[in-house]
Amino acid sequence: KLANMVKRGALIVLEGCDRSGKSTQCSNLVNYLTACNIDSKLLKFPDRTTSTGQMINSYLTNATELNDQAVHLLFSANRWEAMDNMRSMLLSGTTLVVDRYVYSGVAFTAAKGLDMNWCKQPDVGLLTPDLVLFLDLPIEAAEQRGGFGEERYEKREMQINVRELFLQLQDSLWQLIDANRTMQEIEMDIRQRVLSTLDTIHDKPLKQDLWT
Ligand code: TMP
Ligand code: MG
Repeated sequence: KLANMVKRGALIVLEGCDRSGKSTQCSNLVNYLTACNIDSKLLKFPDRTTSTGQMINSYLTNATELNDQAVHLLFSANRWEAMDNMRSMLLSGTTLVVDRYVYSGVAFTAAKGLDMNWCKQPDVGLLTPDLVLFLDLPIEAAEQRGGFGEERYEKREMQINVRELFLQLQDSLWQLIDANRTMQEIEMDIRQRVLSTLDTIHDKPLKQDLWT
């Protein structure tokens, strides 16, 4: 039973507000794990390359309008369509480092005033992360990093609401990372937490029990 002897990979999620350094940290982490001979892969949501991702992209860049509920479901579908592939990579031993996941999904839509419980439902049954690292940065510090971009949600008011909702979503999978430090300090912190998670997942099966 060789297949049963393969150690599964971990599902590591990085979340955070815009300008928190999340994307940089995700790719640095994958480079580090690779250098340690740990099979790993970087994923990002939304994945703008798929057909749902293209619809999401044109919404985010203000090229099209969509109703709030409809775009919420598109973000969720964009995750669902990746699940079979993610599950098989995890089971074959690949650790996945994911830039944004269901927490962004709920925080951003709920920040527009939609009911948080409604926002959670479409993601019920998606793969449960082994670890969620939330890169927390006060809004003033984010603004000092050069301001927000041009996309639909990259506005001060929205970002303030999103951060508050993110913090309401904290669960037992979460670890808060102080993102108001140097990139290198944050990087070392993240590495340590990921390595200890990798040490603990041996016999833990992959779960799909969000949001319990
Ligand atoms: P990005 O800048 O990481 O590509 O994310 C695009 C924007 O989409 C960002 O403002 C966060 C938002 N978002 C949602 O509204 N719902 C989601 O499910 C995800 C993953 C991102
Ligand atoms: Mg962005």
